[in-house]
Amino acid sequence: MKRRKLAVAAGFCLSFLLGTLLNVLFIPAFDLQQRRQQQAAGSPSVVPEEAERSSRGDLAQQIRERYQEVLRYQRRQRDRAAAAVPGARLLTRPLERRLMDLAPGRLASSASSERSPANPPAPRATPGEPSAQLELSLSPLRLGCRDIGNVTGVHYLGSGYTKAVYKAVLNRSLAVALKSVDFGGHDIDHCLKLFGALEDCYRLASYKLIKEMILLQRLRHPNVLQLYGYCYQDSNDISDTLTTITELGSPLEMIQLLQTSWEDRFRICFSLVRLLHYLAHSPLGSVTLLDFRPRQFVIVDGELKVTDLDDASIEETSCTSNRDCFMEFPARNFSLPCSVEGKCQSMNEKRNLYNAYRFFFTYLLPHSAPASLRPLLDVIVNATGELHWGIDTTVAHLERVLHLYKSGLYLENTTRTPRSGYRRMPEATIANENYRCWPSYHHKGCLLSVFDVNEAMEICENHSQCKAFVLTNQTTWTGRQLVCFKMGSTSIMSDHDKTTYVKVMN
Ligand SMILES: Nc1ncnc2c1ncn2[C@@H]1O[C@H](COP(=O)(O)OP(=O)(O)O)[C@@H](O)[C@H]1O
Ligand SMILES: *[C@@H]1O[C@H](CO)[C@@H](O)[C@H](O)[C@H]1NC(C)=O
Ligand SMILES: *[C@@H]1O[C@H](CO)[C@@H](O)[C@H](O)[C@H]1NC(C)=O
Ligand SMILES: *[C@@H]1O[C@H](CO)[C@@H](O)[C@H](O)[C@H]1NC(C)=O
Ligand SMILES: *[C@@H]1O[C@H](CO)[C@@H](O)[C@H](O)[C@H]1NC(C)=O
Ligand SMILES: *[C@@H]1O[C@H](CO)[C@@H](O)[C@H](O)[C@H]1NC(C)=O
Ligand SMILES: *[C@@H]1O[C@H](CO)[C@@H](O)[C@H](O)[C@H]1NC(C)=O
Ligand SMILES: *[C@@H]1O[C@H](CO)[C@@H](O)[C@H](O)[C@H]1NC(C)=O
Ligand SMILES: [Mg+2]
Repeated sequence: MKRRKLAVAAGFCLSFLLGTLLNVLFIPAFDLQQRRQQQAAGSPSVVPEEAERSSRGDLAQQIRERYQEVLRYQRRQRDRAAAAVPGARLLTRPLERRLMDLAPGRLASSASSERSPANPPAPRATPGEPSAQLELSLSPLRLGCRDIGNVTGVHYLGSGYTKAVYKAVLNRSLAVALKSVDFGGHDIDHCLKLFGALEDCYRLASYKLIKEMILLQRLRHPNVLQLYGYCYQDSNDISDTLTTITELGSPLEMIQLLQTSWEDRFRICFSLVRLLHYLAHSPLGSVTLLDFRPRQFVIVDGELKVTDLDDASIEETSCTSNRDCFMEFPARNFSLPCSVEGKCQSMNEKRNLYNAYRFFFTYLLPHSAPASLRPLLDVIVNATGELHWGIDTTVAHLERVLHLYKSGLYLENTTRTPRSGYRRMPEATIANENYRCWPSYHHKGCLLSVFDVNEAMEICENHSQCKAFVLTNQTTWTGRQLVCFKMGSTSIMSDHDKTTYVKVMN
């Protein structure tokens, strides 16, 4: 972790003069022809030099495939935009900013090292390769190297397989997340063990970051992390290191989530299905998240947002029969129908849904929900766990639950018979006399959300310590009022924004 901090600090401190000039990422070059010949001749007992050459070929092949994938996302967007609104591209063009020119280049490792005649330099790029350009339009904020050249409050947030993520404060005001390839991470580690070429391994990994950046840009939605910008700059070992600048969140902690109120947990599930609904109908087609674990998401203001998109895919699996449309999960397997077009029907959408079920819904949806909503939630958990519904139906069911909750209709059939009377005291609060309850919005007291005063009274009846409660003027995301429950009322004092109810003993 210390090493990472140093690496990033070095990255920031290093002259970023070159950064803006080096907005160029060279496309790795290699000769497909030669590679094919190598493959054809590929006997198991190759001499070491040939092994080295062919493994470098593998790396180049991987880099090329990643690059092609990135281009596909770019094109897909263009085609759709052009089909929908002729001339749309022309209109958006001036807003776009060059990400990189993909001019034919050379493999960095071979360009920089001496080679013996027995170990010839890596072949040049295929001549005539059209020089493609990747562009991004970065609104509303377009941050770049200049903005992250002088940051404060840098601290490590987390890392996964490929990237390391840091928090940083720009201009002492705007807190952002900075993502870059983690030099100490598993991805680079694994590649170095196989190929031993740092610069090329970096390039391979950085395509994941580029892919993510393009997807963050193309998939604009309240539950997709916002991309603010990016920066290419030189670092110690590597020219052109890429840092992306995004909205800041907090890493999703399942243990923590399990301790929050049902209302907040429902919000996570609700934002997740809204995200999945968008992904199923996205401008790029139906997007699936191949790595769906909770750590690929962050929380921003109580909402869930996806941050890790390097394992997203828009390809629907091709098939000739239903047997090809097999989805395997640790606890359950599914077989989806193969469509007449030869694609596994809704596989991307269903994979997302089952993952949402197994990582989120089972843990977050039913437990400690209002009793009258429980049956509806059990149906949702069961139907997603069985993949009976598509995302549209799932959204509709969660929306119904939200409606019942927000409108207070969920209280309809519960017997509402407060036994005690309460004395209402406007513009008053109780300073102390807190007791703890679960799951409270405040760890020192008992702060819960209610639909109305009647529900607050019911809760007070249920808590043996409760002698009074204070209605605050604060509301939760569903518009419910926060109420602080108290074990006494001796410390009453005036407060314009609050109303106190004191239990009257009879
Ligand atoms: N915008 C963000 N704000 C806060 N933490 C983040 C943000 N993005 C990612 N993280 C944290 O960093 C970790 C690694 O980021 P991620 O994009 O998932 O990288 P990887 O591809 O290596 O898995 C995540 O698991 C998450 O905890
Ligand atoms: C960096 O920020 C500090 C404090 O905000 C400021 O005093 C300093 O001039 C800045 N340096 C550069 C190079 O912008
Ligand atoms: C930071 O301040 C500089 C100089 O005042 C300005 O050019 C830049 O746009 C600011 N960046 C952000 C993110 O506010
Ligand atoms: C799922 O399929 C795999 C491969 O056919 C099999 O080994 C496994 O037992 C199946 N799991 C379940 C839960 O049916
Ligand atoms: C759904 O309900 C059926 C019938 O009660 C049950 O057999 C099945 O195990 C449930 N599935 C899940 C995923 O909860
Ligand atoms: C309340 O009961 C009525 C009649 O049984 C039913 O139609 C309604 O759906 C119930 N409401 C809730 C929120 O359960
Ligand atoms: C109060 O407790 C009763 C019995 O345990 C329960 O049925 C009811 O739902 C509770 N009411 C509230 C508002 O917590
Ligand atoms: C709630 O009370 C606070 C504290 O007095 C006050 O600043 C705020 O404006 C109030 N908000 C609303 C929505 O009434
Ligand atoms: Mg991740």
